[in-house]
Amino acid sequence: MDSFEINKIAGAVLLALLVIFGTKTMSNIVFKAHKPEKPGYMVEVPDAPDQGADKASDEPQVPFATLLAKASAEKGMGVAKKCSACHTFDKGGKNKIGPNLYGVVGSKLGATDGFAYSEALKAKGGTWDYDALDQFLANPKAFIDGTKMSFAGIKKDGQRADLVLYLRQQGDTKPPLPEVKAPAVAAPKAEAPKAAAPEAKAPEAAAPKSGAPKVKAPEATEPKADAPEAKAPEPAAPAAETPKQQ
Ligand code: HEC
Repeated sequence: MDSFEINKIAGAVLLALLVIFGTKTMSNIVFKAHKPEKPGYMVEVPDAPDQGADKASDEPQVPFATLLAKASAEKGMGVAKKCSACHTFDKGGKNKIGPNLYGVVGSKLGATDGFAYSEALKAKGGTWDYDALDQFLANPKAFIDGTKMSFAGIKKDGQRADLVLYLRQQGDTKPPLPEVKAPAVAAPKAEAPKAAAPEAKAPEAAAPKSGAPKVKAPEATEPKADAPEAKAPEPAAPAAETPKQQ
């Protein structure tokens, strides 16, 4: 009887072990089956910065004069809503946080009567021609270091052109639009930034990895360096992750 019971206990223990390890193995299989989803996410990460890079490299290709020629003052009026908290655009409109902007195109910097401009703007001097407005509205603080216009800027070139055309419409003088130069030069330039894009991808692709909770960075980074997109799914290194989950 004693040995019988010992056998029973031993059997129970073996069974328990079998169940435990069996479950683990099963869970391994399950986790492995799920892993391919991970590389799917990773592919998305390098994609995003890539698009950004494309946009950045494409936009400066089109000269502002060309954008202005295609711009719509009507759309610009919509963009100008972003400014209306601080500016009025109508003739004789009042100064708010910022000066009234009627007739600003072609005027001297800081010319609106009765507005207390910053020292930085007054010191800058010059005229609000199309180029100056383009740069200022893209990034006010970069164009006039120390301006008190707290506005991040209009990043989209097309929107900025619409807006500047609207500003021109809100004035008596309406200076002639800048001459559109032949776009021939833009074509070859377009390729250079794009060729650089893949390089830029490599470090960016690696960055999210180090942030990821599972520290399998070293394995995945190596293949990434060669060809980020193609290799991304390969990190069949899911195997490397699975043990950590147990
Ligand atoms: C948060 C308030 C604010 C917003 C929003 C804002 N501005 Fe201004 N803006 C100012 C202030 C303040 C000044 C004066 C800057 C200085 O003196 O340094 C100014 C100055 C300017 C000037 C120079 C005017 C001159 O007489 O020299 C222009 C042009 C201008 N803003 C255009 C715009 C446009 C276009 C927008 C919308 C895209 C905009 N601003 C959005 C506050 C604002």
